[in-house]
Amino acid sequence: MKFSKVLYLLVGLAMIFVVVGCGASTTPAPAAPAAAPAQAKLEYKDLTVCYPQLGAESDWRTANSASFKETAEQLGVKLVFSDAQQKQENQISAMRACIQQEVDVIALPPVVEDGWDAVLTEAQDAGIPVIVVDRSVSADESLYAAHIGSDMVVEGQRSANEMNRLLPDGGKVIELSGTTGSGAANGRAEGFRMNLNDNIEIIDSQTGNFTTAEGKPVMEAFLKKYEGEIDGAFIHNDNMAIGAVEAIKAAGLKPGDIKIVSVDGTRGGFQLMIDGWVQADVECNPLLGPQVMEMALLLANGGTVEPKEQLTNETIYYPEEAEALLPERQY
Ligand code: AHR
Repeated sequence: MKFSKVLYLLVGLAMIFVVVGCGASTTPAPAAPAAAPAQAKLEYKDLTVCYPQLGAESDWRTANSASFKETAEQLGVKLVFSDAQQKQENQISAMRACIQQEVDVIALPPVVEDGWDAVLTEAQDAGIPVIVVDRSVSADESLYAAHIGSDMVVEGQRSANEMNRLLPDGGKVIELSGTTGSGAANGRAEGFRMNLNDNIEIIDSQTGNFTTAEGKPVMEAFLKKYEGEIDGAFIHNDNMAIGAVEAIKAAGLKPGDIKIVSVDGTRGGFQLMIDGWVQADVECNPLLGPQVMEMALLLANGGTVEPKEQLTNETIYYPEEAEALLPERQY
């Protein structure tokens, strides 16, 4: 037999052996260890984070947006950013678009406190964790993974303590409030009333929607209505304080005639302190991007944020230190 024929014969026999051998066996061969890959850990570069920003109403907000954009770029996170122009319906639409896009995490800075239940439930049903950023929501906390931001009630209390110090003999104050229904305005108003001395009366409170443009006419109206009566002003953010000071100047008043306590600690607020118009600026920190991205990575990898409520550390700034600190302010 030629060598090639022998080879064909051997190969044929081997094939018959394999087929018969396999078919005859009743005991399945032990399964090869299932290639059960351990859940691959996501890294920043794998993450898509949605940030439906509420607007661009203030310098604080501009710094907050920049913090998210810069952090995402540094870490390689894909950021889906939008600007809702202070309208809740726009934020909800942006969130729904992000849910459809199947982003990994949504970070929501809610313009107002109420009205989030439906869209938070939709995100939860889609398995997308939501981090509430900056202002709070009134929705049940089972609907979101974490909240990171300032304690707005404490900011209001600190503001009242400063007003008590500035008006030791009591007096009449007006309140220029933030966006109606927002966690920031609600909390600050509540805290201010909690700590204000009994001899200080809040004679009026109106919203300036956290903007310079709206703060100015509201202050003009106060000055007209309560001419010569206003001893102090609690202003819920520095941008409205800038507008209010323009109105106070235009009315011919001097720095210190009306004691002003503002909130945020922006460069604009520092300049108002240096110029003598604002006597205390209660800090509200907008630089939340790094902490939120860290939380987003944890959540995307199946972790949980403990405790759910994460408060930022803040302080109060005074005119005496403003000049020295201004150059190093980041916002
Ligand atoms: O929610 C934070 C507040 O919103 C800041 O005090 C204000 O400046 C911003 O618009």
